[in-house]
Amino acid sequence: MARNMKSSTCTAPVNIAVIKYWGKRDEELILPTNSSLSVTLGQDQLRAKTTVAIDPSFTEDRMWLNGKEQSMKSARLRNVLREIRNKVRKRKADDETLSWKVHICSENNFPTAAGLASSAAGYACLVFTLSKLFHVDGDISSIARQGSGSACRSVYGGFVKWVMGTQKDGADSIAVQVAPASHWPELRTLILVVSDQKKHTSSTEGMQTTVNTSQLFPRRLLGMEEKMEQMEKSINEKDFHSFAELTMKDSNQLHSVCLDTYPPISYMKDVSHQIVRMVHCLNSICERNIVAYTFDAGPNACLYLLEKDVPRVLSLVTTFFPPKDNNMEKFIQGLPVDVLPPSQG
Ligand code: ADP
Ligand code: DP6
Ligand code: CO
Repeated sequence: MARNMKSSTCTAPVNIAVIKYWGKRDEELILPTNSSLSVTLGQDQLRAKTTVAIDPSFTEDRMWLNGKEQSMKSARLRNVLREIRNKVRKRKADDETLSWKVHICSENNFPTAAGLASSAAGYACLVFTLSKLFHVDGDISSIARQGSGSACRSVYGGFVKWVMGTQKDGADSIAVQVAPASHWPELRTLILVVSDQKKHTSSTEGMQTTVNTSQLFPRRLLGMEEKMEQMEKSINEKDFHSFAELTMKDSNQLHSVCLDTYPPISYMKDVSHQIVRMVHCLNSICERNIVAYTFDAGPNACLYLLEKDVPRVLSLVTTFFPPKDNNMEKFIQGLPVDVLPPSQG
């Protein structure tokens, strides 16, 4: 190893939104058209792991993702690096590490770009690792946001909202913890991997086409602040029935505006729709919501449920969708955690 080389390795989990972000008002700064709210999952389930090294002998910034070198032409990668270096410069204008190039190596332990929030874990992890290496303190969610919008929420654990903000420079578009995971320790997640294939339309491209073409989209925006308030209330009161209803309705609405996009975008597959039917069937038998589905920009389901109902739901899922049969790849069980999620080491 070179004499001056410094490196840091950290991990960060995904977050799955229950009130979803879909649409930007500023594409360069990644400022959203609505606030959103998510649950950060545990480090042991779906996570990104990133090592960043700096060395005076490196001649250029380089990045590898899942073993494959990426282009540093990516504006997002460059913006994130620039923001971190700006913070270092503010602290010490002649810091010697400012001229050192970085080598970034990241790996996800789950499918990348398949609608399981890899961009969220990936950029939260990158920004957290850079902040450790360059000793940057203070809010890093607004830097993570500039890598991928959803990444700003993975900077905190538990229940996290991304406040859309009103300022033009995005200074108030940050993530805030609504409640730690310990507030609702019985909450569990079950991830049903319907397909691990890369999505046909990236979230970035999909949401911008929606903003530009969907007539239903402005109607969605009108209801978002009220939904955010109701969701925060249901979390504060640990009202699972209402949490589940709001979650499912928001997921359905997101996929409706995707279909209303021109040309239409459909992220859900037949098996995804079968999961939706199974959940409604179970909830109707129970005469209350005991499980909620939500789908990001992909066919894979994230189920939210309470610990006591895990055996019942799991046995139903395995009966209807045996893994590797019926197009279901596998299940991942998880629970939200309460630590500041990105961690070092
Ligand atoms: P997803 O639904 O998985 O978030 P997106 O379309 O939003 O899919 O984003 C996928 C993109 O996120 C990848 O093509 C890559 O550019 C970026 N990404 C994914 N994982 C990482 C990572 N660990 N580090 C940096 N960037 C990542
Ligand atoms: C459906 O954060 O992946 O998962 O900001 O363009 O990188 P960019 O998009 P991204 O979009 C996430 C969309 C979503 C909903 C959500 O996570 O809130
Ligand atoms: Co994403």
